[in-house]
Amino acid sequence: MSLAAQESAEAARKIFESVYAAAPAGIFAAPGRVNVIGEHTDYNEGFVLPMAIDRYTAVAVAPRLDGLLRMVSERAGWSDYPAGVAWAMIGAGALPADFKGADLAFSSRVPVGSGLSSSAALECSTGLALAAVAGKPISPAELARLSQYAENEYAHVPCGPLDQLSSAFGAADAVLHIDTRTFDIAVHPFALGDAGLTMLVMNTKVQHQHGESGYADRRSACERSARLLGVPALRDVNFADLDRAAAVLDETDLRRVRHVVTENDRVNRFVSLLQLGPLEGPRLNSAGELLTASHVSLRDDFEVSCAELDIVVDAALRGGAHGARMTGGGFGGCAIALVSTDRLERVAETVSEALPQAELFTVVADRGAYQVA
Ligand code: GLA
Repeated sequence: MSLAAQESAEAARKIFESVYAAAPAGIFAAPGRVNVIGEHTDYNEGFVLPMAIDRYTAVAVAPRLDGLLRMVSERAGWSDYPAGVAWAMIGAGALPADFKGADLAFSSRVPVGSGLSSSAALECSTGLALAAVAGKPISPAELARLSQYAENEYAHVPCGPLDQLSSAFGAADAVLHIDTRTFDIAVHPFALGDAGLTMLVMNTKVQHQHGESGYADRRSACERSARLLGVPALRDVNFADLDRAAAVLDETDLRRVRHVVTENDRVNRFVSLLQLGPLEGPRLNSAGELLTASHVSLRDDFEVSCAELDIVVDAALRGGAHGARMTGGGFGGCAIALVSTDRLERVAETVSEALPQAELFTVVADRGAYQVA
């Protein structure tokens, strides 16, 4: 049970009742995510370390009999995602070909367009709701796979599997160490509060124009480099190969590859620290350094940060955060800072002074998509 999910579920129920003048048959919720570390590694078959957050999209649902899919939400411009999930599920046999339709009402507390995976939350909540009205249970793995398929092939966003896996598999007080080649997931305790730590989210509120093309461009640079290096994916490149890569790739592509290689290593080093016990003392310092090094690599080698993200990251560090980095695809959106709870106010003040428009809030790791009611 998640209090945050229940609140969104109640909001979805109210919308459902007022729009459709009936009670829903069920309510489902799926969370957004913060990727703690492991950025732009998922489409290179590498490693990621996300946590699902206590910000949910909830959907109230009831079956129909006429094949229509009706939907309403307090936000505009969302309908491609639920429609895409229904399309993907029918195509894969997860819904019957003669699916009889449904009424859906959405409510969400995942900020849109900020790199916290509002679309994955929307997709995964829809998938659970539709599977339930069709009476065909869906596993978290299938939910994530079909949600990503809908995003790639229906909404035409060339994302990797990170967001949908996070939303489907999230766990309270835990991070997910995901191998995006095998989809193996190891769950590691991440009860930050117990360790006197807080995860601060700093939403810059900017979304740069070139975000979408920038993402697709980085993805093709990685795929091109893998081809030139003769490996299935950049996951298969290690530190020793970087010398060889320098002879084959141009300077820019070499930096892209270096980011992926060093970032995969940072994820696995971060996990090794977690395996040694709660983050404190030198372990906490090392974890913070890995986060900040990830930001520097995304900024300088992968070039997906932006001025506003750099400003909030630098300010958080000046204010005393242990580490800080952009999270998600970049080109705007959110950064995160790992902060000792007793320094939170100081860090928040420093960030607000540096970028007054930034919206700051804290998150905890919460459970993945589930049926709330
Ligand atoms: C976006 C994509 C993910 C992942 C991240 C970068 O969030 O949707 O698949 O590639 O960017 O790590």
